[in-house]
Amino acid sequence: MSSLWHPFADMASVKDDEFVVSRGNGARVWDEAGREYIDAKGGLWYCSIGHGRGEIADAVSAQMRELAVYDIFASTANRPAIELADRVAALAPFADGAVFFTSGGSDAVDTAGKLALRYWHALGKPDKRTIVHRERSYHGMNAYGTSLAGIAANREGIGALIPDTASVGSDDTDALERLFSERGDQIAAFIGEPVIGAGGIYAPAPGYWRRVQELCRARDVLLIADEVICGFGRLGTWFGCHRFGITPDMITCAKGITSGYLPLGAVIASPRLQEPFWTTPGAALFRHGYTYSGHPSVCAAGLANLDVLEREGLLERVSRLEQVLDAAMRPLAELPQVSEVRSGVGLLAAVEIAPDVRAAEPGVVDRIVKGCRERGVLTRGLAGHSLQVSPAFVIDEAEIGRIAEVFAETLSGVSVGTGV
Ligand SMILES: Cc1ncc(COP(=O)(O)O)c(C=O)c1O
Repeated sequence: MSSLWHPFADMASVKDDEFVVSRGNGARVWDEAGREYIDAKGGLWYCSIGHGRGEIADAVSAQMRELAVYDIFASTANRPAIELADRVAALAPFADGAVFFTSGGSDAVDTAGKLALRYWHALGKPDKRTIVHRERSYHGMNAYGTSLAGIAANREGIGALIPDTASVGSDDTDALERLFSERGDQIAAFIGEPVIGAGGIYAPAPGYWRRVQELCRARDVLLIADEVICGFGRLGTWFGCHRFGITPDMITCAKGITSGYLPLGAVIASPRLQEPFWTTPGAALFRHGYTYSGHPSVCAAGLANLDVLEREGLLERVSRLEQVLDAAMRPLAELPQVSEVRSGVGLLAAVEIAPDVRAAEPGVVDRIVKGCRERGVLTRGLAGHSLQVSPAFVIDEAEIGRIAEVFAETLSGVSVGTGV
């Protein structure tokens, strides 16, 4: 029996049934028994450059030998943090961004939420405290993320830790318009994922993001793009905002910033957000930060990761593979066990298990995930209804084809009421 308490796990069953991954290379990983798997989910969406990249290990090792760790509080800095901030800011959809480093995506969401409130307070509008989110959204598991969870199960037994939130339908700009006109003077920010990820992979309705941007500007509401999944190339552009043609006020990011090699998150703040804090000495201070904000060894991993993404043209590769993945996954929609396939925007796909199949056997999604694993493909259930596909950008066409084959084989063995 294990002493390791797994995140998001039914420990009563997992404690005696761990799946131990021990090695990775490219889009593949191996378990302790030496069995090989295609990692269809790219770890937890993060492993953009693929597993087993010696150049990241080398960059981190060199940095650790020089200066493993030093904080960046007050006026202290370190060179990797400065360089990574400059490079990340240069990739953002607005000029002259400032980068606030965190330890991961949940921290980035908390940071953005607090910064929004602090910004309005500094501008003499302390009543603007509410943050609006979309149904189906996932914004991490810290206080803001839990309270902004569009996946209700993620608040079960806990409730909303932060009371000042509001939810709107994930594509419902009319509801957003109504909410803004009723309560605009209390609304600090709107937060959304360019493509909803953990909630089941939902691309926005055509024109959705431009309309949201218009409404935010008209009502003086800050727009926060949560790019923890979409950022750093997953949609074939540096940020999802580029793909949907919008310019937010803040971006939250993590995962792909280091391809997950070391934990890192960030908030990229546009000049508007910097203004109260960066202009007049002594005027306003954002009293916030984490011990490991700007950790030099972690930032070294980030810099090496950006080098790989750029040098190998991996964003262009994603744009090309988007169609390959779409073509491979679409036919699964014909299976009676599948109600919908969502793909075609970036290297992302979800295969939704039909409601009647799930109703007939509540554990069926987990059983399908296990069935795929037994056939050599790692996926997981999203929001209790869909299979996740978000592989490394280095995946090849044959590997994509194999994921679709294994899904088809496994799903075909499921009949309503009898399971895999
Ligand atoms: C959109 C989004 N925001 C925030 C988070 C939280 O990031 P982390 O798990 O690094 O805290 C995630 C994690 O999946 C995410 O997908």
